[in-house]
Amino acid sequence: DLLEQISQLETIFTVDANKLKAIVEHFIKELEKGLSKEGGSIPMIPTWVMSMPDGKEKGSYLALDMGGTNLRVCEVQLLGNRDFDITQSKYHMPPGMKTGTSEQLWDYIAECLEAFLQSHHPDEALHELSLGFTFSYPCSQTAIDNGVLQRWTKGFDIDGVEGHDVQPMFEAALKRKNVPIHVTALINDTTGTMVASNYTDPETQMGCIFGTGCNAAYFDVVKNIPKLEGLVDLDPETPMAINCEWGAFDNEHVILPRTKYDVQIDEDSPRPNQQAFEKMIAGLYLGEIHRIVMLDLYEQGFIFENQSVEALKKPYSIDASLLSQIEEDPFENLTEVEDLFTTRFGIQTTEPERKLVRRLAELIGDRSARLSAAGVAAICKKKGIEKCHVGADGSVFNKYPHFQERGAQALAEIFGWHDLTPTQYPIKVQPAEDGSGVGAALIAALTAKRVNEGL
Ligand code: BG6
Ligand code: GLC
Repeated sequence: DLLEQISQLETIFTVDANKLKAIVEHFIKELEKGLSKEGGSIPMIPTWVMSMPDGKEKGSYLALDMGGTNLRVCEVQLLGNRDFDITQSKYHMPPGMKTGTSEQLWDYIAECLEAFLQSHHPDEALHELSLGFTFSYPCSQTAIDNGVLQRWTKGFDIDGVEGHDVQPMFEAALKRKNVPIHVTALINDTTGTMVASNYTDPETQMGCIFGTGCNAAYFDVVKNIPKLEGLVDLDPETPMAINCEWGAFDNEHVILPRTKYDVQIDEDSPRPNQQAFEKMIAGLYLGEIHRIVMLDLYEQGFIFENQSVEALKKPYSIDASLLSQIEEDPFENLTEVEDLFTTRFGIQTTEPERKLVRRLAELIGDRSARLSAAGVAAICKKKGIEKCHVGADGSVFNKYPHFQERGAQALAEIFGWHDLTPTQYPIKVQPAEDGSGVGAALIAALTAKRVNEGL
C-alpha cells in the first residue's frame, strides 16, 4: 500500500548523519585531488581573483550575467565605503538558445549589452568602461580575462563552444555589433557571490550557488595548489580564489547514495556521467526526480490508477517552483496539490496519493539541502575554518521551502553542534549580496588595480 511505498522512498532518499560525515571525508580528498597535478573529477579552477576587496573600491563598471534562465546587464557604481548603486536590465533567454548555435548565443548576449548601453549611455566614450562577464559554467582560466569552456552544464548543449576560449567568441560578437567594450574579467557566479558578500560582510569566506546548478568558491593559497607549479611564479602564500565546480563531485559514483532515479536522470541528460553531485541537488533536477519517481510508482500500479498520465510523461515538466508549491500546501487534505494536479496534469488524486506526493517533495528537498551542507562542511574542514559566513544565492537557496534550515541542521549534525541553537552556529550560510552584479564589478575593479600595480 501507499504507506509502504512512502517508507521505501524514505529509506532511499534519506541521508543520515553518519552517511553525511562519510561524504564529507571523501569530499575533502576529492577537493585536494582537484588541486593536485594529476587532477580529479572536481575541476578546482584557479580564477586569478587574488584578493578580497578592501571595501575602498570605487568607480563605474559594467556587469553581464549569463546564468541560464535570464541574462542581466548591470551598471554598478562602487562607492568606496562597502556600498554601491546599481542600475540593471533583465532580458529573457529565448527557450531554444540552450541548444541553438554558438553564434546565436554570442550575438544575443552582445545585442542585450548593446540595448542596455543605448538606453543608458547613448553618446558616451564607452571604451572606458570595464566589463565583468559572469559566465557560470566550468571554464579553465590561464588569466582573469579568458576561459576555455570545459563542458556545458545545467542542460546547455551548444556545439562549438566546449574546448574553446569564450572570451574571443564574445568579443567577436561585440565587434560585429560595433560595441566598443572589452571583457576585463570572466567570472563564475560563485566567485562573484563570494567577493560581493565579503564586500558587505568581511566575515564571508565562501560563496555558494544553490540554483539551477550548484557550486562553490573559496580562497586557497598558491602553495596548496600543486597544479599551478611551474606555470606561474607566485609567492607560495599568494591567495587565489578557486571555482570548485563541485557539481562534479563523485562522478565516479563511489559515495553518494544514488537511487535508480538519479541514474536515470543522468543517463537521459545531454552530458551523462558528469555533474553527479549537482544532479542530486540543483534546481534544474529536483522536479525531474519527483516526476520520474511518480511515473515509476504509477507504472507499478501504486498511484493514479485508471488515470491518464500523458502530461506527466513530458521530461522536465515539473520544475523546482512547482515542487515548492507542493511542499508548501498549507491544507491538511492538500487541496492545493489537488488543484495543481487537475489543472497541470489532468490527474484526479486521492488524499493518500497527495500525501505521498508531498512527502516525496519533502524528501527530495531535504536530501538536496543535506548534501549541499556536506559540500560546505568539506571546504571548511579542508581549510580548517571553524567559524565563518558563507554567502549563498540561487533560486533553491532563496525560494525552496526550508532549504536554509535543513542545510543548517545538517551542518550541525556534521560538526556536532548539539548544544547550540541555530543562531549560535559558528558557520552560517546566509543570503548573499548580488554576485554577478556587485561581485563582477568588484572583480573588474580588483583586476584594474592589479594591472595598474603591474602584478
Ligand atoms: C543570481 C546570481 O541571483 O543567482 C547569479 O546573481 C546566479 O549570478 C544565480 O547565477 C543562480 O540562480 P539560478 O536559480 O538563476 O540558477
Ligand atoms: C553549474 C556550473 C557552475 C555554476 C553553477 C551555479 O554547476 O557548472 O559554473 O557556478 O552551475 O550556477
